[in-house]
Amino acid sequence: MRTIMVINAKGGSGKSTIATNLASYYASEGAKVLLVDYDKQESSLDWLRARSRARPVINGVAAHSETFRAPRSADFVIMDAPAAVHGSQLTQFVRKAETFVVPVLPSPIDMRAAAGFIKELKDTGPVAGKQAKVGVIANRARGYTNIFLSLDDFLTGLRTVPYLTALRESSNYIKAAERGLGVFEFAPSATAVDREEWKPLINWLASKKSH
Ligand SMILES: Nc1ncnc2c1ncn2[C@@H]1O[C@H](COP(=O)(O)OP(=O)(O)OP(=O)(O)O)[C@@H](O)[C@H]1O
Ligand SMILES: [Mg+2]
Repeated sequence: MRTIMVINAKGGSGKSTIATNLASYYASEGAKVLLVDYDKQESSLDWLRARSRARPVINGVAAHSETFRAPRSADFVIMDAPAAVHGSQLTQFVRKAETFVVPVLPSPIDMRAAAGFIKELKDTGPVAGKQAKVGVIANRARGYTNIFLSLDDFLTGLRTVPYLTALRESSNYIKAAERGLGVFEFAPSATAVDREEWKPLINWLASKKSH
């Protein structure tokens, strides 16, 4: 069983978008997926409610209000963390998964906040002790804008945390969110760029480097 949490203390960085797209990807590959929503907003569970029964099944848990034990049969447990998780609460969250994906937006406020958050995450017991692995990704990238290049430099410069990929800003993510789908469930022709951008993240998650 793989346990993967998407986390960043900064609100709106794309945690739920990445978590739901990962869940959809693995389910589409035939895996048994549990989507665990730790956020009271329940964005991931709302996404699941919008999902057609005809699509590959993903089970959901409202983990902010119920304790749960992932069934042994689950291949992937994808966890969506809430915003503003710091200190002892962060330590609690870091115990729940073996792999952490941190999305960061191209904005000065988000980059500053991410610098602090990534440092805090690296200093928590399981990450510092290397039992848990962290990877960062850029989200809502807009080509060669100056602010994206700054984000790219910032994430490249982290060194102690792998910078896995940059996901572009795309209406595909909005359409997917509306319909309870992931970009991998759309026609390949409409999502060729997105699929390429996801590959390094998917490959890292499949490799020993991430767990
Ligand atoms: N790559 C993208 N392209 C276009 N829109 C995006 C992309 N990533 C996220 N969004 C949009 O940005 C908004 C915030 O994304 P999301 O809800 O995934 O962030 P979050 O980190 O889960 O937020 P919160 O901290 O409130 O839980 C949403 O409206 C989402 O559809
Ligand atoms: Mg969210």
